[in-house]
Amino acid sequence: MAKHDPDFQTAGARPSAGDCLPQAPDADFARFNLIGNSPLFLRTLALIRRIAVSDATVLILGETGTGKELAARAIHYLGARRDAPFIPINCGAIPENLVESELFGHARGAFTDARESQPGVIAQAEGGTLFLDEIESTSARTQVALLRFLQDHEYRPVGGSARGADVRIIAASNADLETLAAHGAFRPDFLFRLNLLSLEIPPLRVRGDDVMLLAETFLLRYAAQYQKPARELDTAAVEFLRTHTWPGNVRELENFIHRKILLESGSLARAEESRSATAGAALPVDPLARTGKRFREARAQAISDFERSYLSELLIRASGNVSLAARLCGTERRRLGKLMKKHGLTRPLVRARRRDDG
Ligand SMILES: Nc1ncnc2c1ncn2[C@@H]1O[C@H](COP(=O)(O)OP(=O)(O)O)[C@@H](O)[C@H]1O
Ligand SMILES: [Mg+2]
Repeated sequence: MAKHDPDFQTAGARPSAGDCLPQAPDADFARFNLIGNSPLFLRTLALIRRIAVSDATVLILGETGTGKELAARAIHYLGARRDAPFIPINCGAIPENLVESELFGHARGAFTDARESQPGVIAQAEGGTLFLDEIESTSARTQVALLRFLQDHEYRPVGGSARGADVRIIAASNADLETLAAHGAFRPDFLFRLNLLSLEIPPLRVRGDDVMLLAETFLLRYAAQYQKPARELDTAAVEFLRTHTWPGNVRELENFIHRKILLESGSLARAEESRSATAGAALPVDPLARTGKRFREARAQAISDFERSYLSELLIRASGNVSLAARLCGTERRRLGKLMKKHGLTRPLVRARRRDDG
């Protein structure tokens, strides 16, 4: 579920006070894939720098897809713990009864299946940072255990005895934790302790021209990855990108461009087309159009349309990694490769290929 993350390795000197100035677009942050030039975003980057030099617990708040995990990685890799692991875990994705064992590990014989003792993610993150995403989904019991860890750096593996760990905690949430705490749905003492430093990532819709900058970056990235020609944004596309409210923030924008490049469905321009693509819907314009065709022909067309949209969604989910895509949908890589070829979805470039073959 969690593993040491080799994406960002050690580099650069410790940030100095001068690095904290918010004005200059920051080459250092390109390394963390944090793109944006709007004043609000630059202020966020400046805050990330300041937080990175401290060692306190951090709470990152922001809507889904705003870049909370990227921010957490930047804090880790800009800080003194950069040579130790950064371990991300999504608390919302772990079944409630397994959370404690995942976090703290368990002793041998702690429960029926526990033939061997197993370290938890806290132990794996020793010396580094543990990123707890969707912290609002932890139970009151887990919150108490984590609170204890935040207070005295001690924890107890399930069925084991107390031990210590030197781990920085960065938590994230897209929920309003204050309100949850006021309604008894989140422990106020835990919130208080998490919130020593807090970082709020602004939604994409208030970041001005960052939308365009990000769209152009993703266009180039995915065109190169799929060996497709880079496309220009025309006025209608620009209008759509600017007026859409992006409830899924940067993730939604990235998926939107990724899908566009994969499907190559004509102009990137037409706003209605863009909207239906965003909604993931592929409804025929004329609901009776299909019955104008012979059954076999209509069925073949429907299957082909389905294959194309399924494949593009799948490749987006797997970030273009064909082996992973094959595993996700439970088919063989070769079979998937054939289907991709049939639909003109070129194999991703070298980088993804190398990952596949490893
Ligand atoms: N400022 C940014 N520049 C480039 N890519 C970004 C930026 N913010 C987010 N992303 C991309 O958007 C997606 C969602 O980011 P993530 O950190 O997982 O968001 P969150 O944790 O807030 O849901 C990721 O693919 C990430 O690479
Ligand atoms: Mg996230």
